[in-house]
Amino acid sequence: PPGGSGGGSGTFAKDALGNDVVAAEWLKIHGPGDRTLTQGLKGDPTYLVVEADRSLATYGINAVCTHLGCVVPWNSAENKFICPCHGSQYNYQGKVVRGPAPLSLALAHADIDEGKVLFVP
Ligand code: FES
Repeated sequence: PPGGSGGGSGTFAKDALGNDVVAAEWLKIHGPGDRTLTQGLKGDPTYLVVEADRSLATYGINAVCTHLGCVVPWNSAENKFICPCHGSQYNYQGKVVRGPAPLSLALAHADIDEGKVLFVP
């Protein structure tokens, strides 16, 4: 269940339809360098990341801009996250490379639990 009942340690990533993201299925569809928006910790929109070896990255990137909170889209052509609100830019790892954002995008630890992607603080 969302939030996790036992242990209370994390939240499954959800796809756009609210289903738990199953890592194997998801990796079948998404390729290296892909950043795909899901729902992660506390319901924040969070990107799942595929590494060059086609595995799931051990971190998710929180999509909430650290300036004023717009959801930041991934621009694969530019290999950056570019905020539509005031133009802040973040690199492929979520590190801020152009303001006005004061901080990098927050990272969440992405774990695989029983084949499903789990974000843990
Ligand atoms: Fe993203 Fe202002 S909210 S740059």
